[in-house]
Amino acid sequence: MNTQISQATDLPFVPVSPKFGAELGPDIRLLDLDDNGIEALQQLAAERGVLVVRDQVMTPDEQVGFARRLGELYETPMNRGRAPAELIVIHADEKSKYVAGSQWHSDVSSEELPPGLSMLRLEEVPPSGGDTIFADMTQVFESLSEQIQSLLLGLNARHDPRGHYLFVSGAKRMDELPAAVHPVVRTHPRTGRPSLFVNAGFTARIVELSQLESDALLKMLYDQVVYTVEAQIRIHWEPNTVVFWDNRVVQHRASWDYFPARRHGYRATIAGEKLAPYLEA
Ligand code: SIN
Repeated sequence: MNTQISQATDLPFVPVSPKFGAELGPDIRLLDLDDNGIEALQQLAAERGVLVVRDQVMTPDEQVGFARRLGELYETPMNRGRAPAELIVIHADEKSKYVAGSQWHSDVSSEELPPGLSMLRLEEVPPSGGDTIFADMTQVFESLSEQIQSLLLGLNARHDPRGHYLFVSGAKRMDELPAAVHPVVRTHPRTGRPSLFVNAGFTARIVELSQLESDALLKMLYDQVVYTVEAQIRIHWEPNTVVFWDNRVVQHRASWDYFPARRHGYRATIAGEKLAPYLEA
């Protein structure tokens, strides 16, 4: 086992790929972490993008209590008693017509304060498949030519509410929900590292460009996410696996290759911060 300890935290982890993703050791129990442990978890998520923690038995209420220690939580009015309002139910079975998150995205980037961490815990997993694929948007940004990088540094994009988010929000129409403009390249407040912050799930257009230019540039950037496989990891779930991802630096998509099997769990989504102060031009 290639166990490492990050410089800024004393959490031992096994890298999922050399620069991206970390699987924490079997001894960690999230519900027992003290404040230093919570700080270390957030720092490691900033450095590695995705954290995988196995065998974490907890109730939905305990998940909410834990996630609150990471920041303010988004609420989901459509749960109708199936789960606490602070959780999104992630569920698929033989009746499902679609699943949440099956295209590349960063969670709810249409929010004025787009999410920092998301915390997904699955209780039931299919016999095979059902992985989540993650892309490291820092490595994707670094994979672009210097010329394209400097073009992107001056641009901003509008993000609109869409799809599953509209459903879980309880809104009837898109225009009841906020849209937001964010820099196309952001820096992480903990690490200062730049990352690409446009995604196929929520980004509507680049505001400084014509529609034609914006569509072409966004398509090129989304292709870069899909084809830069060196910047991707694939996480396989077991019952009671918890995965944290830092939406500031990561995009993800769920693989729905297991129909008609069941997959069930809960996501807490933790508010991040306003982007502009963290962008170094
Ligand atoms: C999501 O986008 O939060 C869903 C991810 C998953 O189900 O793997």
